[in-house]
Amino acid sequence: MTEEIPLAKPEIGAREEELALEVLRSGRLSLGPVGERFERDFAAWLGVEDAVAVSSGTAALHLGVRALGWGCGDEVLTSPFSFVASANCLLYEGARPVFCDIDPITLNLDPAAVEAAAGERSAGILPVHIFGFPAAMAELEAIAAQRGLGILEDACEALGAVDAEGRRVGTHGNLATFAFYANKQLTTGEGGMIVPPDSAVAAQLRSERNQGRAADMGWLDHGGLGFNYRLSDLAAALGVAQIEKLDEMLAARDAVAARYEAGLAGVESVTTLPVSRGAERRSWFVYVVRLAEEIDRDATIASLARQGIASKAYLPCIHLFPHLRELGYTEGQFPVAEAAAAHSLALPFFPAMTESQVSRVCEALAGSIR
Ligand SMILES: Cc1ncc(COP(=O)(O)O)c(C=O)c1O
Repeated sequence: MTEEIPLAKPEIGAREEELALEVLRSGRLSLGPVGERFERDFAAWLGVEDAVAVSSGTAALHLGVRALGWGCGDEVLTSPFSFVASANCLLYEGARPVFCDIDPITLNLDPAAVEAAAGERSAGILPVHIFGFPAAMAELEAIAAQRGLGILEDACEALGAVDAEGRRVGTHGNLATFAFYANKQLTTGEGGMIVPPDSAVAAQLRSERNQGRAADMGWLDHGGLGFNYRLSDLAAALGVAQIEKLDEMLAARDAVAARYEAGLAGVESVTTLPVSRGAERRSWFVYVVRLAEEIDRDATIASLARQGIASKAYLPCIHLFPHLRELGYTEGQFPVAEAAAAHSLALPFFPAMTESQVSRVCEALAGSIR
């Protein structure tokens, strides 16, 4: 029987088991010392002062929107080529996502499109470092500074990416969010992290993730509106173990991506995504290729599936989902994003992927496209 090759696979080993077991035996399943350790280890690895752990990347984005004070009547400039949470987090607070087209190479927000769409009601920019490629932060920060806009970085797919200035994504002093779902560079099963710009925002985030309780309040005291966006200590234990081997896992992802790049080099009708366009470096999250326009993507996916290889149309444009069409968005408004969405295909990608698995996928893909 042919071995199935999944789209993603987490790296869970003995260390994750050991730390998870310690939490189980400790009896402190939430708001315990391991959660705090995960925050400290994450901040130290990233090179920032502080980090606030939450239950998901979506929760991180939601609290980020609230920390920036974006709400009814505010417009936020953002990418239509993203995962839906980066627009939904604005809707949760009554703010309006104003989509701007993307750059055809980086697939990130095109600063010129942001500049063109900015207006009276603009309150901020929400760049997404899509597929782990650093967004054009210097240009976006210049626009934000000139217009007095806030910035919330969606770095949910970009842990470990390095920008053109040589800084890790999420370390610019903006509010930045990360996500730890099972296919991410670092996983806690479900989970997220917010990098706050200062200690006052950090305290607000810690209170809002915990039903509005301040650090010195009892369980039934609430200083304001809050949510249950806590990350359990069991999940945090996985995070602590994952950080210990994060450099290794990122290097393994780089190696798998390089193998794909070599394996697909001669395959007609398939274009790979760049690791860099200049000085920046992508952190490989998914391995997405672009098929030529005339290729039938659905037939390609079906053919790969028959050979035991998972693949996925990746990503659909956000502005075309029903709840965003209700805001007036339609087809044809963002041609670069829509073309990327129409022809992109995610292939199996995970750190433990072997050379022979990558070769099998490349050969199957070459034989499947028509
Ligand atoms: C770009 C982006 N934003 C936000 C999220 C939301 O993260 P989560 O699924 O942890 O809520 C994801 C996760 O898939 C993502 O890829």
